Amino acid sequence: MKVIAVNGSPRKSWNTATLLNSALEGAASAGASTEIVHLYDLDFKGCTSCFGCKLRGGTSYGKCALRDELTPLLEKIEGADAFFIGSPIYFGNVTGVTRSFMERLLFQYLVYSREDRSLAQKKQVGLIFTMNLSDSMAKERGYDLVFDSTARSFKIIFGSAEIISSTDTLQFEDYSRYVASLFDVAEKKRRREEEFPKDCKRTFDLGVKFASETGSAS
Ligand SMILES: Cc1cc2nc3c(=O)[nH]c(=O)nc-3n(C[C@H](O)[C@H](O)[C@H](O)COP(=O)(O)O)c2cc1C
Repeated sequence: MKVIAVNGSPRKSWNTATLLNSALEGAASAGASTEIVHLYDLDFKGCTSCFGCKLRGGTSYGKCALRDELTPLLEKIEGADAFFIGSPIYFGNVTGVTRSFMERLLFQYLVYSREDRSLAQKKQVGLIFTMNLSDSMAKERGYDLVFDSTARSFKIIFGSAEIISSTDTLQFEDYSRYVASLFDVAEKKRRREEEFPKDCKRTFDLGVKFASETGSAS
């Protein structure tokens, strides 16, 4: 069984990537082969509304017709049993590249019909969001609605989507180097040491679950 992680953060070893790697470690511990792909390494655009994926009898029916550096990743996800997408929250939503990737991934499978809305094979999907705001502030700002609405699109296309949020993340190694008086640095460091490992454990466990359920189903 194959499990892919897609990192929508420009940073390859920070909060989002760390949580994704934990998810893959969990999946690997249950027997999956795993791979992480960093979106910021790829040169690609979002959906261009060409509708090649919906053209009757077209050679790209059900597949994104745009060919660029995202194409191999879309093909890998097609062949995977489960996948994770991780993104930092930028201005209340996923990063721009994550959004562009999601458009391309989802739209190719979406069928404009009342029945059978999706051409995709059912897969386990994990959505991992990391953010500066605390749990309570994120709720106050309606982030849950954004996450639920993103998950809803994945449920329509792939049949399932589980969300893991990691809040109040450490943003810089050394806060004294930046103008950032808004933050309680001691509390940020405490959370990094005491709470963030719990978030990593949650993504690890979800990786184990995905690999175990997929393994037993196939
Ligand atoms: C351009 C930009 C916009 C951001 N906007 C938000 C935001 O709206 N809400 C929030 O909670 N955090 C925001 N953050 C903080 C990041 O979401 C947070 O530090 C995240 O954990 C970074 O992930 P990374 O360590 O994987 O890069 C923003 C950071 C950047 C660089």
